[in-house]
Amino acid sequence: MNKTKIAVFVSGGGTNLQALIDAEKAGKIPHGEIALVVASKPGVFALERAAKAGIKSVVVERKKYPDKPSFEADLKKTLDENGIQMIILAGFMLVLSADFVKQYPDKIINVHPALIPSFCGDGFYGLHVHEAVLNYGVKVTGATVHFVNEVTDGGKIILQKAVDVLDGDTPEVLQKRVMEQAEWIILPQAAEIVAKKLSEA
Ligand code: GAR
Repeated sequence: MNKTKIAVFVSGGGTNLQALIDAEKAGKIPHGEIALVVASKPGVFALERAAKAGIKSVVVERKKYPDKPSFEADLKKTLDENGIQMIILAGFMLVLSADFVKQYPDKIINVHPALIPSFCGDGFYGLHVHEAVLNYGVKVTGATVHFVNEVTDGGKIILQKAVDVLDGDTPEVLQKRVMEQAEWIILPQAAEIVAKKLSEA
């Protein structure tokens, strides 16, 4: 069986990357293989997770390029050299251009720490999302895995899971609950759904 070759894009701690690595090891992503980790900056802990799992990694820093097109052209070259067929954005904090995204139709997925279409779009990332959830006072939040298109957080939804907001939650406490009860569960599940489809294409 041909496994879909996956690149996981990260910018930080990489707990979602770890969930993907653990799921692959446990046989829960039989149609996919994490072949590359792409970090948007050096020194992030996600790179250590990749090294520990024996997965090749590269750092691609936007600021090393004069403009976004040259940055993304080099990124595409790296992906092609590694035979990458699918991309998972797992806490990746750069927005990819429409031109880049169009080259991977229904082949890029993203995990967002809220129930889209709530608390999403420009400016809603990381802890800011959970701060906004607590400020609004909603009683249920969650996570969404969706395809990436040219609209930030606007692509077709693959999986969602709800998580309760509890009295006394801080953004940090809520973020941890959303990760544990939703993100780390649905991201590997969605990865397998998409990898399977691409492996059959
Ligand atoms: C996760 O909560 C992820 O959903 C979020 O950043 C965190 C990364 O954590 N992504 C976004 O907000 C994207 N809009 P991690 O590095 O431990 O996986």
